[in-house]
Amino acid sequence: MAWNAGICLAGRQAERNGVMAENMKETVLKKFGEVFGDAEGAKVYFAPGRVNMIGEHTDYNGGHVFPCALTIGTYGVAKKREDNKLRFYSMNFGHLGVMESSLEDLKMEKEAGWTNYPKGVIWAFGKKGYEVPSGMDLLLNGNIPNGSGLSSSASVEVLTGYILRDLFGFDVSNQDLALIGQYSENNFNGVNCGIMDQFASAMGKKGHAIFLDTADLSFEYAPIKLENAKIVISCSNKKRGLADSKYNERRSECETALAEVQEVVGINNWGDLTEEQFEQYKSAIKDEVRAKRAKHAVYENQRTIKAVEALKNNDVELFGKLMNESHISLQYDYEVTGVELDTLVEEAWKVDGVIGSRMTGAGFGGCTVSIVKDDAIDAFIEQVGRAYKEKIGYAADFYVVEIGDGPSVVE
Ligand code: GLA
Repeated sequence: MAWNAGICLAGRQAERNGVMAENMKETVLKKFGEVFGDAEGAKVYFAPGRVNMIGEHTDYNGGHVFPCALTIGTYGVAKKREDNKLRFYSMNFGHLGVMESSLEDLKMEKEAGWTNYPKGVIWAFGKKGYEVPSGMDLLLNGNIPNGSGLSSSASVEVLTGYILRDLFGFDVSNQDLALIGQYSENNFNGVNCGIMDQFASAMGKKGHAIFLDTADLSFEYAPIKLENAKIVISCSNKKRGLADSKYNERRSECETALAEVQEVVGINNWGDLTEEQFEQYKSAIKDEVRAKRAKHAVYENQRTIKAVEALKNNDVELFGKLMNESHISLQYDYEVTGVELDTLVEEAWKVDGVIGSRMTGAGFGGCTVSIVKDDAIDAFIEQVGRAYKEKIGYAADFYVVEIGDGPSVVE
């Protein structure tokens, strides 16, 4: 589902989203019947993807993040079984056909592909004391572009947890679903992610972003009131290649730098320091690169706090300026952008009517997020799209997005 330059009008998209949800229920139930034989008694569910507005690479540094759930995400159809079998089918990976596993055989297997995500969550429920009592048939269909950094995997984790709670009556909150999703991604899938993505998907609220302090999981919902402007996501279509190893490398650079600074001051994490305090203690970090990583963690956290304050004061211009500064910090100090994301952002900054633009998510490919005035959206897509294709050699995709709710049963 990608829009090309010119036809991505905000109003039309809102219409499409509504129509899509309706058709989606029919489509996935029909497919479930075809694939598993009988859709009688099966239920349809949805969990959203997310976009982070600001606060990048702060969630594993005890800082603040400011993501919101999207109206795009992953739909699922599920039905309990009498035996212990698990049967999986994804409409996004139809060529893989039905993939089978069982409750007695929950281990990560490379060749099991995407099914490692739902399997991981079922495994994690067991580890947390919620033993899943019987198998199920599960069909998924996502409308988040794959590998785009809009958290398709977190949406699958939260969706699976939500389904397990609904089918088996486990007493877990939505916040627990986020924590179990992260636990499974860390310990089953071996990706050392923070809590932001699963939290945004599980706790999303229509029209609001979530101002989350990852040091203690306290949070508040902040309304995103954009007058005559929209959130536009530009997808670089760059494959994320080495992203996971680079991600883990950044994490360990921050941890090593933290241990060095903890020699001279008693802090728990980078979120504890103001910019001034960081400048005072930074000489304890014994390596220049590590010092830049830590600087980003501290400054980005403070920027996120300021950005939310700006939004509360209805100062969207200042919010946009802080988004731009966030990108520069991710480009030069954290070094997680790359030519594709930098081109999208730098071209965005040239367009009249762009309030702010930055990379979003882990980086190294994936997407940028921009706030664009309504009457500039067509020009934005046209100009940024053209310049990107000229420089990079292939096209970007653009999405005018809406902020949606967390997981739900699709009625
Ligand atoms: C990925 C991770 C998140 C977060 C972001 C960067 O999306 O899953 O936990 O660290 O990168 O902000």
